[in-house]
Amino acid sequence: MATRSSSSNARRARRSLAPRDGRAGRAGRKVAVAREGCGEACGAGGRQNAAAHFSSDAGVVPRGARRSSNPVVRIENACLPGRLFSSLARAVRALGTENLRRTYRTTFWFDFGPPAALPEEAILSVRSRIPRVPAGAYAGVEWWLSRMRTSDVQVDFHQDRDEALFRRIGASVHPSFSSVLFLNRCRGGLLALLDAPANDDNPARVPDPFDADLVRPWPNRFVLFRGDATHGVLDANNEIPHGRLPAPTPLRLALVMNWWTRRPLELPRFARSGRYRALRVGSGAVVVEPGARVEVSRRRRSRR
Ligand SMILES: [Fe+2]
Repeated sequence: MATRSSSSNARRARRSLAPRDGRAGRAGRKVAVAREGCGEACGAGGRQNAAAHFSSDAGVVPRGARRSSNPVVRIENACLPGRLFSSLARAVRALGTENLRRTYRTTFWFDFGPPAALPEEAILSVRSRIPRVPAGAYAGVEWWLSRMRTSDVQVDFHQDRDEALFRRIGASVHPSFSSVLFLNRCRGGLLALLDAPANDDNPARVPDPFDADLVRPWPNRFVLFRGDATHGVLDANNEIPHGRLPAPTPLRLALVMNWWTRRPLELPRFARSGRYRALRVGSGAVVVEPGARVEVSRRRRSRR
């Protein structure tokens, strides 16, 4: 589960971040084309530069010439089979603003049994892409929907962790891997990943220095990163979030999946939650895209 943002953090007194080799961000300023990367598996819509790319062993070189023994990010486009992706994206769009204010607090546990929700079918589909862990098999996946307006980013820079465990004993235990499947394009909203800790003194807790791998949201783009990597979301102008922007943007939609070797505390299963009916497998719900013509109604009228 992610550390939840606080808009108060994002609105803290601004402090300029130390510029770094001409690519670092400053609070309230646009972050230049720093490290948006794309792997060898990139398909349409991908862009490749020296920032982040797959190596032959599926690792990543995230820092230009400085090869890291702990790669931060791995990207794959056109990840899900087309029909599954379309069904998932339509179902999430059909949710509209349902539970939007609590989206980051609505998380579920899936242990690779029969899938009850479309996101759980997606998890089974991407499972083979997740690196093996030395300590044995994964126990399951914590998943939730990320739905936000990039005009009002509500998530500070953070590391994912077992939030309930942290509340109980103050220990930070991270998933083995975190991953994001983007469901749409959006204005701004780059995902920024770093291997430096979040800094409470900065707007949105952005780390110092801001030396990040940046990933542009794109339909069916899958991003995998270490479970202890610091990450956050840039705003609609691809700046470090520092408050609500005047013009609301459409929702940035993504499915977040954290891969655990043990089940985090207090995580319900989707099937027992009663949430998000549109996501249920076999719900039979007819999802109508905005602007689509409903031919059934016309036929009924013509028969009268
Ligand atoms: Fe997170």
